[in-house]
Amino acid sequence: MTMRVEPAGVDIDVQPGETLMQAAWRCGYDWPTLCFARGTCTACRCEILDGLHLLSERTDAEVALLADLDRRVRRANPRRIRLACQVKASGPITVRKPGVKKSTNNDQEAANVEGH
Ligand code: FES
Repeated sequence: MTMRVEPAGVDIDVQPGETLMQAAWRCGYDWPTLCFARGTCTACRCEILDGLHLLSERTDAEVALLADLDRRVRRANPRRIRLACQVKASGPITVRKPGVKKSTNNDQEAANVEGH
C-alpha cells in the first residue's frame, strides 16, 4: 500500500506489518527521530490527513507519550497525531510530516549501524 507524505509530496510503499517509519527507512527516506524508533522521543509524530480508520491501535508507547503531548498542546483532533515508529497501516494513507526526505548514503549507513 502507499503512504503519501506531505509536504514533501512523496509516495512511500508500506508493507504489511511494518511501521510507517520502517517503510520510510526501507525506501531510503529520512524520518525525524531522536530515539531511533524506540518509542521514547515523539520526534517521529505525524498528522494523519487521510486513512485514520486504516491504522493500527495506539501502542502503549503512543498512549503514554501522546497523552502527555495532548495535555500540553490543544489539538482539533488529537486522534490524528500518531507516532510513525509505532503505527502500522492496512491501506493507503496520507500523512503530514515535515522533514521527511531522501536519505544520503551517509545517513543510510548511520541508520544501518544503529541496527535498523
Ligand atoms: S522515533 Fe522516537 S518515538 Fe518514534
